[in-house]
Amino acid sequence: MPPEKMEIFKSLETWAEDNILVYLKPVEKSWQPQDFLPDPKSDGFYDQIKDLRERCKEIPEDYLVVLVGDMITEEALPTYITILNTLDGVKDETGDSTSPWAVWTKAWTAEESRHGDLLNKYLYLSGRVDMKQVEKTIQYLIGSGMTPQIENNPYLGFIYTSFQERATFISHGSTARLAKDHGDIKLAQICGTIAADEKRHETAYTKIVEKLFEIDPDATLLGFADMMKKKISMPAHLMFDGKDDNLFEHYSAVAQRLGVYTAKDYADILELLVARWNVEKLTDLSAEGRKARDYVCSLARRIKRLEERAQVRAKVAQTLPFSWVFNQEMQL
Ligand SMILES: [Fe+2]
Ligand SMILES: [Fe+2]
Repeated sequence: MPPEKMEIFKSLETWAEDNILVYLKPVEKSWQPQDFLPDPKSDGFYDQIKDLRERCKEIPEDYLVVLVGDMITEEALPTYITILNTLDGVKDETGDSTSPWAVWTKAWTAEESRHGDLLNKYLYLSGRVDMKQVEKTIQYLIGSGMTPQIENNPYLGFIYTSFQERATFISHGSTARLAKDHGDIKLAQICGTIAADEKRHETAYTKIVEKLFEIDPDATLLGFADMMKKKISMPAHLMFDGKDDNLFEHYSAVAQRLGVYTAKDYADILELLVARWNVEKLTDLSAEGRKARDYVCSLARRIKRLEERAQVRAKVAQTLPFSWVFNQEMQL
């Protein structure tokens, strides 16, 4: 990134301190996975595990596939902090940097770390999934990394994270709703609590991009259009369980079928961000900027139209075994 752009992030440090770090929750006020799990030091530990297993008995396998995929996505957190620390001007240069950007990234990671931890322990105790296959998938995924195509550029990086936090908010919100439908209120609470974190993170990241739009509208808009042209790839798109070469696509297909996260959600997020950043009302743009504005403003509508057409095309119902649920055949 050119030095003058680096300077922008330096000059925003006090702003970030006052406006972004406030979206972090102090550890003492944060929930911990243990708040939602059987307590190993209590006499009722084994009964609590029994209750947990009883509660999730009725949960269908396809729901579990989606929950496992969501959990694995959370568990690849080492990749995400690595990516955030590739971003010029905001990366943590030392590992214990006190720049507000670096403080945010470390504390964000610490908050996120509870998500995978909680879902992992829950799924382990449930006895419903093949933990060894799940763990293999996590190891493969962290070993593979990801390709968010943000090119060390914090403009692109924060647009990506804005999008992603919203996507995870939707996804965990949907699994919460479905858990309730399947009669597991505790699991609904777990997913809902995680969703609330994602929402708070979304607010912080969209606020950063809002600020960038304010001080550097042209570059921010070009970045937004660039990310949308490349399509936002999901963080766990390289997942592999040692068996299925298209595991991410298959997991996504089940998520789409259950309505946990769909192509329409993708378009809705784009629409929401366009509105959140007032993109339609941006003036004072270069010719290139105006083109980018028109592109992003009409894109959601186009995606939705394409999606409707794809839905009309009769799909052949395909089934596939998922190793995560002991190779049970699942409809995609
Ligand atoms: Fe998360
Ligand atoms: Fe998140």
